[in-house]
Amino acid sequence: MKIPLTDLGAQDAEIGHLIREAAARVFASQQYILGGEVTTFEQAMAQRVGSAAAVGLSSCSDALFLALQAAGVGAGDEVITTSLSFVATAEAILRVGATPVFADVEPASLCIDPLAVRQLVNSKTRAILPVHLFGHPADMPALRAIAAEYHLFLLEDAAQALGASIRLREHRLERNADEQRERGVPPGEDQEIPIGAWGDAAAFSFFPGKVLGGAGDGGMLVADLALINKVKQLRVHGRDLAMGTFEQLGGNFRLDALQAAILAAKLPFLDSWVERRRSAALRYHELLAPLEGVLLPQEAIGMSSAWNYYVLQTPRAQELSQKMREDSIQTSVYYSTPLHRQPLFARLTLPQPLVHTEVAAQGLLALPLFPEITEEAQEYVASSLKRAFRK
Ligand SMILES: Cc1ncc(COP(=O)(O)O)c(C=O)c1O
Repeated sequence: MKIPLTDLGAQDAEIGHLIREAAARVFASQQYILGGEVTTFEQAMAQRVGSAAAVGLSSCSDALFLALQAAGVGAGDEVITTSLSFVATAEAILRVGATPVFADVEPASLCIDPLAVRQLVNSKTRAILPVHLFGHPADMPALRAIAAEYHLFLLEDAAQALGASIRLREHRLERNADEQRERGVPPGEDQEIPIGAWGDAAAFSFFPGKVLGGAGDGGMLVADLALINKVKQLRVHGRDLAMGTFEQLGGNFRLDALQAAILAAKLPFLDSWVERRRSAALRYHELLAPLEGVLLPQEAIGMSSAWNYYVLQTPRAQELSQKMREDSIQTSVYYSTPLHRQPLFARLTLPQPLVHTEVAAQGLLALPLFPEITEEAQEYVASSLKRAFRK
């Protein structure tokens, strides 16, 4: 049996006819740049994540960069972020001329630790950029409290987390009262809030392998109307949309109409895809539970992951990945060189030891996970992994 990390063909077999209809509509209209398809998808996304407005962009990498630029973050500013991520997260900070400051992660969720963030805030800090890693939410209630206290711009890197959410009350009950006080979390509402509606802005990716993937690159920024209007200007070379003049340095950062049409056709399936991913994740838990020395990914209480990836923590990740390849199973080892050890960021001084980041980087192994994965395929993956583990 041959099992890919993600299987876009299986998705195409289920809903490919809707994708082709959407694409045919764009070809018939010949409206390839912006226009109704992009606007419709922007509105649908804003509604889905409970945000005031949205702007369709060339990629999530560009969405992060433009959000920081539009918020006025630049030279001399510090942005606190995580080193355990794809390069695009901290790269966006360098692109606006600001300095990334890496905070450590929480050992279970692998998302930025609010206590570590709090220690790093100083007079130069302008923003916090958490990542919802592998689809699991970062501790947004605590991060939002810190951002409010110090008037910081809170930008969510939600590239991997469309469809994730946090149930506020449950999450709060899970943490003990002292810890809550230490984190500065205010008493609040009892509701489920989607990822994307927690920060001042959130950036999503439609890279084909993401939970909602396009037929190419694409991204989206959601935020309040004022910030979105600024980014709409920057995405068309900084053109003032009313005057037609060019006053700011922008670029070409547009989402293609073709991608927007395809993504809008797929969006109604998002919730069911996340649910199917969760069921598959739970099946892996059952199949793998007794593996000693391996930490299985878990949803923290009150948190709903988008389950973009099912990632095990094990120092043997590389070796297991190699052995599973011999059984025709595709896996992926993530972030073995975290960003603070990449040459691009080597000149930065680390203000705190990244203890949990370093431990995690020793072995993050993603197993095949997609909505259409069969029980039989998962059993095959689990037995291959167990066999590899015993060798
Ligand atoms: C955490 C994270 N941030 C940002 C990005 C960049 O997204 P894009 O490929 O749409 O630019 C990715 C893509 O893999 C990602 O995983």
